[in-house]
Amino acid sequence: MIRQERDASLQDSGYIFIASSDSIGEGEMMEVSVGKETVLVARVDGSVYAVDGICSHAYSELVDGELEDNCLYCPLHFACFDIRNGDVLEGPADEPLSVYTVTEQKSSIWIKIER
Ligand code: FES
Repeated sequence: MIRQERDASLQDSGYIFIASSDSIGEGEMMEVSVGKETVLVARVDGSVYAVDGICSHAYSELVDGELEDNCLYCPLHFACFDIRNGDVLEGPADEPLSVYTVTEQKSSIWIKIER
């Protein structure tokens, strides 16, 4: 009952459940579709982050790239984005990735798409 109330509160605030916490281990990432959005979700230093799943440079699914610490490498031209804030750390990309608000509560990961 308490869980249902909590979930309803998150949903009322615009959050969407995307995965259970144990589905993303430290240093791991996964791609989820939320409406029309492709979102990359990753866990770094215990925190979960969510950014655009498509590279800002050209079309490439970032889930096929590599995550090294906080650096998310694109698989196509190897731009590096900071998974924590979407900033470009290394080109050729020059536009940051959009970042989504994430909350992790009681073994569940929720994100908010605000567009
Ligand atoms: S498509 Fe990602 S760096 Fe070019």
